[in-house]
Amino acid sequence: NLCCFLGHSFHRAAGPVFTPSSLVVKYGDPAFATCVACQSDCDESLANLEASGYKEKNGSTLKWKVSSLTEWKSDPICYYIDHNGTQCCSTLKVTLYQMPTNVSISVLNHSGPMLEKSQYNLVCEVGDVAPAENLTVTFYRGQTELGKAQYSRTTSRKPENGSFSLSLNATKEDDGAQFSCGAKLELGPEGPQRPLVVRSQSLTATVHCKSKENPLSSVEKGTLRLNCSAVGNPNPSYIWTLPFRGPHFNDGVLTIETASSQHEGQYNCTVSNSVKTVSVLFNVKVQSK
Ligand SMILES: *[C@@H]1O[C@H](CO)[C@@H](O)[C@H](O)[C@H]1NC(C)=O
Ligand SMILES: *[C@@H]1O[C@H](CO)[C@@H](O)[C@H](O)[C@H]1NC(C)=O
Ligand SMILES: *[C@@H]1O[C@H](CO)[C@@H](O)[C@H](O)[C@H]1NC(C)=O
Ligand SMILES: *[C@@H]1O[C@H](CO)[C@@H](O)[C@H](O)[C@H]1NC(C)=O
Ligand SMILES: *[C@@H]1O[C@H](CO)[C@@H](O)[C@H](O)[C@H]1NC(C)=O
Ligand SMILES: *[C@@H]1O[C@H](CO)[C@@H](O)[C@H](O)[C@H]1NC(C)=O
Repeated sequence: NLCCFLGHSFHRAAGPVFTPSSLVVKYGDPAFATCVACQSDCDESLANLEASGYKEKNGSTLKWKVSSLTEWKSDPICYYIDHNGTQCCSTLKVTLYQMPTNVSISVLNHSGPMLEKSQYNLVCEVGDVAPAENLTVTFYRGQTELGKAQYSRTTSRKPENGSFSLSLNATKEDDGAQFSCGAKLELGPEGPQRPLVVRSQSLTATVHCKSKENPLSSVEKGTLRLNCSAVGNPNPSYIWTLPFRGPHFNDGVLTIETASSQHEGQYNCTVSNSVKTVSVLFNVKVQSK
């Protein structure tokens, strides 16, 4: 209880008491609480309740009722002014919560297969959750926890959108693994006893092996030739990813007749057949004469 400041006197006394002492309410659900404004020797006319919604007064007992709570900040204040003119008040902490409307997982700025031994960021996006400060996001591979994240900034009581990330070093073992994230509201003992969790859909990772050699190819101004042809059975197909905007290549050998500095960078050749897929990286430097 807090005795509010009035005039120049300030003291603590047996002030107003709410039952229950705090509330956790789901958005749109009813809320109900009772306050006894003073314990003994009361002037009932000096007891009051400041709150929106339905209020009822009987002596020094004040009742508060809302059939559907939708106000994000609605803490009722119960107060009493004693014979010395000291105002004593008590605030009922109301935690209004809303489960996220949407939880989704993705890989930051990346689509398609990942390469082993490369680093990626898994991103979990959570839509319209409140109170954001009580949210914990957990990343999973299958059922295994990989890590947790929370809001690092101050949040309001209103629903917020959030984006959380976890870095991932892709490994061969991640090929075919199912990544997901879960958004959990932890509202303490006054909150619902069932877990408040929304799980994203799973993202199935495809991880391609890097070949053992990681060739650094240089080329004198002239012809650039990168060979990634593999003997495969069944016959493989090739997809090249280039460091510049260019034509699509799908042969085992990539040839650029007049290479210049604009052709420098990383080339990725993905070789696949129905049995397996392998990626070969080439780092290309073009030397001027
Ligand atoms: C007011 O409180 C008294 C004593 O607790 C009780 O007897 C009475 O029925 C209450 N009146 C109303 C209108 O609820
Ligand atoms: C959920 O989030 C994903 C990614 O942010 C978005 O594509 C999708 O439209 C959202 N769905 C809803 C119902 O908001
Ligand atoms: C991801 O892509 C967006 C827009 O395409 C860009 O603004 C952002 O900087 C990129 N983030 C990283 C970490 O590369
Ligand atoms: C959260 O994102 C959704 C969809 O993009 C948007 O409709 C909503 O207004 C956003 N909420 C906040 C609090 O920014
Ligand atoms: C990923 O691998 C790099 C280099 O091997 C290492 O420095 C980094 O700490 C690793 N990150 C994680 C999240 O394991
Ligand atoms: C919600 O989070 C805040 C800040 O971390 C914490 O003080 C409060 O106790 C949490 N609420 C519950 C009911 O756990």
